[in-house]
Amino acid sequence: MNRKDDHIQFALAQSTISNDFDHVRLTHHAFPETNLEEVNLTTSLFNRTFPYPFYINAMTGGSQQAGILNQRFAKLAKHFQIPMATGSVSAAIKDPQLTKTFTVIREVYKEGFIIGNLGAGQTVANAKKVISLLQANALQIHVNPVQEIVMPEGDKDFKGWLASIESIRQAIDIPLIVKEVGFGMSATSLKQLSAIGVRYVDVAGKGGTNFSIIENQRRNQPLTSFNDWGQSTVESLIAAQPFKKLNIISSGGIRQPLDVIKSLVLGAKMVGLSGYFLHLITRHTDEEAIQQIQNFIEELKLIMLLLGKKDIASLPTAEYTFRS
Ligand code: FNR
Repeated sequence: MNRKDDHIQFALAQSTISNDFDHVRLTHHAFPETNLEEVNLTTSLFNRTFPYPFYINAMTGGSQQAGILNQRFAKLAKHFQIPMATGSVSAAIKDPQLTKTFTVIREVYKEGFIIGNLGAGQTVANAKKVISLLQANALQIHVNPVQEIVMPEGDKDFKGWLASIESIRQAIDIPLIVKEVGFGMSATSLKQLSAIGVRYVDVAGKGGTNFSIIENQRRNQPLTSFNDWGQSTVESLIAAQPFKKLNIISSGGIRQPLDVIKSLVLGAKMVGLSGYFLHLITRHTDEEAIQQIQNFIEELKLIMLLLGKKDIASLPTAEYTFRS
């Protein structure tokens, strides 16, 4: 089976019941002194404003099934005018016949904020190719050493990633986001990224879709050392708090509206969901999925109302406790 189809199938078989977001408790105050009408979810990032603080994060492209999913994700993103990231476009660079499974997103969502995605260690030429194929509004470079180690056909040479990221950042004129794939970002990694001029980091922490388990399911001999590797999204967000120049995106294990709000309270500017959207559209029709997202949005507003916070920018002033 195609690797992209394996990833979809094994990701769908995973379910996250509890994660570190359950250990973050937002402090309740009896006097919110706000009314629902005043609550505004408008979110600013990348010098743009978006209606909501969440988006469809990187997943797929590169197989027929992936193309169909991307078309449906794009319809959903268009309905809510939220950003959408593609899966790694390297599949289409290797085999141009697969291009349409990615560009279908731009065809459906012409006016959309589309984020192209590519692995680390890539050339400036390939980064520019991805941007031009998708007319991308931002580029994600994913850093996935754990996944590469466990992946049967994975790369074992991690030299030069920072230098490659720096040269791509200097060569392109759209925002560059450096993103993990579910193992989190340490303070050391954030410092290294900050030092090479990166301004957008998606911490993509542990707590949701687990690519170590997925790649182990594709191996004859599992490498179990890595199934519990990494920092949770919550731990990564806390590690990122001192880095005031970085715009932090929260992702990894965002299961429900409360996890979005907790991410924003912990300092994230925006929140990405992958597994949530994958499960949503494979279990529901497009119309049902739209209704579910509408309910999700209403719940975000109710949580903000109870916190007495009228806008997204004020959420980091909300009080919380964290017990790991
Ligand atoms: C992913 N993810 C991913 N990330 C990336 O940067 N490039 C990619 O090509 C892919 N491919 C991919 C396929 C599938 C089927 C899934 C579910 C996920 C990782 C994704 O963006 C995210 O970092 C993790 O899935 C953790 O977030 P969730 O799923 O817990 O919300």
